Amino acid sequence: MPTFKTLDDLDDLTGKVALVRVDLNLPMHDGSVTDATRVEASAPTILELADKGAKVLLLAHFGRPRGQRSSVLSVSMTLDAVQAVLGREVMFIPEVQGPVVEQSIGILRPGDIGMLENTRFWPGEEANDMAFARGIAAHGDIYVNDAFSAAHRAHASTEALAHLLPAYAGRAMEAELKALDAALGTPKAPVAAVVGGAKVSTKLAVLENLVGRVQHLIIGGGMANTFLAARGVDVGKSLCEHDLAETVNRIMDQADHAGCTVHLPYDVVVATEFAANPASLRTCNVHEVGADEMILDVGPQAVEALADVLKTCRTLVWNGPMGAFEIEPFDTATVALARTAAALTQDGSLVSVAGGGDTVAALNHAGVASDFTYVSTAGGAFLEWMEGRELPSVVALQA
Ligand code: 3PG
Repeated sequence: MPTFKTLDDLDDLTGKVALVRVDLNLPMHDGSVTDATRVEASAPTILELADKGAKVLLLAHFGRPRGQRSSVLSVSMTLDAVQAVLGREVMFIPEVQGPVVEQSIGILRPGDIGMLENTRFWPGEEANDMAFARGIAAHGDIYVNDAFSAAHRAHASTEALAHLLPAYAGRAMEAELKALDAALGTPKAPVAAVVGGAKVSTKLAVLENLVGRVQHLIIGGGMANTFLAARGVDVGKSLCEHDLAETVNRIMDQADHAGCTVHLPYDVVVATEFAANPASLRTCNVHEVGADEMILDVGPQAVEALADVLKTCRTLVWNGPMGAFEIEPFDTATVALARTAAALTQDGSLVSVAGGGDTVAALNHAGVASDFTYVSTAGGAFLEWMEGRELPSVVALQA
């Protein structure tokens, strides 16, 4: 387990300024935040620092303004949602450094919270520019990083600042790193990984890393079609990356050598059109898919067999749905397997960690997200972690 300082290492902070990197890259619709999960995740950190007497300054990016101010990408778009979650007033400060920030700090009282502007309005952020970072650091006494979901970015507010001020992991970052360590760092074996989603090409590095680390690799979603096709199965009109056959066979060989069993579905749910409950819906063996049919979900026998595999495992890492879960009844396998994993977790026999945008949506849809040991709010960072890569802002916290 990597070592880093946490809020436990902090005493009274009365009058000190805490620069807190959070992830306010929140989904929006018609100018309103549609999901404040990331704020909820960081609320304990923000409130704990405020309650210790700090003047808390939130630092975050919002969208990809590429080094320029943009009124629609002001982080103030999230202000209402942040205040609602925290239950406290938050002062918006339209800069990240300089006299306006200094004056605002003068107005804030111990325990008050401010929100600095979108760090990505300045080119120095993404360039991880030390001079830019020093300008921000000049306003703070400590730096707290609570944005695991931005941890794969080596930017000034996620990386450089950790070298310029005493640096601490926030509560959400701490929980995330502990959960991830329990899942792939020092997991209890046997370990299973569920990797689903549309395309193998986006998760090649994930698969290559996992075959050497887990005993069971369960492939679902459109990715399973690519695996099946590479094994000579005719997948009809299914979503499939036929040009990846060689790559997939190499991954299967790597798995063989590493003692990892790759589980592909042997029965599937097919239809001739992608629509809710289509008339053409049927379940068949993978070798019986018609030329005009598409595989849209893993079949019931395979789901049962996969549930049996999970029952033999002690740890599960899950990324990506098993089928086209947005449309019924192609959510069936994802929901069934998620419920099995949740029940095993609640029984205490399985440590289950899931992450990635679609995955969280799928687990919420199955109604089991809160029954998993840990569900990560991260998208890209979770995938990079599954690829076995070091995350720059986590490394910086350990320095
Ligand atoms: C995310 O939303 O996954 C993080 O905030 C990172 O955002 P980015 O992909 O724009 O760097």
